[in-house]
Amino acid sequence: MHKDVERILLSERTIQQRLDALAQELTDHYRCVGGELTALVLLHGSLLFAADLLRCIPIPLQLECLRVSSYHGGTESSGSVLFPPSWTPSFAERHLLVLDDILDTGRTLHAVCAQLQQLSAPPRTIKTCVLLRKNRPRSKPIDADFVGFDIGDAFVVGYGLDYRERYRNLPYVAVLKPEAIA
Ligand code: IMP
Ligand code: MG
Repeated sequence: MHKDVERILLSERTIQQRLDALAQELTDHYRCVGGELTALVLLHGSLLFAADLLRCIPIPLQLECLRVSSYHGGTESSGSVLFPPSWTPSFAERHLLVLDDILDTGRTLHAVCAQLQQLSAPPRTIKTCVLLRKNRPRSKPIDADFVGFDIGDAFVVGYGLDYRERYRNLPYVAVLKPEAIA
């Protein structure tokens, strides 16, 4: 275990087992819906989650990434979501699945979905899928359509999630020791 970790919340094995089931849920849903699927991966937090999840989904899909940033280094969401000005994807007629690491205040997913709905040629459908959903009040009226794990309100790192850009490469999801959060 990493020296800064207080406790492991979700082990590597627990995560992989849940992702198998989640991939099956998604596969069943999009097979039933029909049409073309695009997975939109929100970077950097959902990189590891998306890589493992999407490899378990056997239906054809396109992959798109979007870099968003809401924390700007601390442990509280800043509420501002930055989009690259030159980002002009084409999702017309496609089913879009937005993948994020965690639903916390909801500001990130709310802002991303609002922006996607305003595209001149918006996707046919927009669904959201998160690895983690925190048990706390949301600042925006949004929930995730597909959820890996419901967790408490602790700040977590690992498996893509960072504290000041560290700990993303831990293979598990963990709570840090208080002294590691300066
Ligand atoms: P929201 O906009 O408050 O829902 O937060 C979404 C983003 O904040 C996530 O994509 C993460 O990057 C970050 N975030 C929220 N909670 C945590 C946490 O517990 N650990 C690490 N990052 C988090
Ligand atoms: Mg982050």
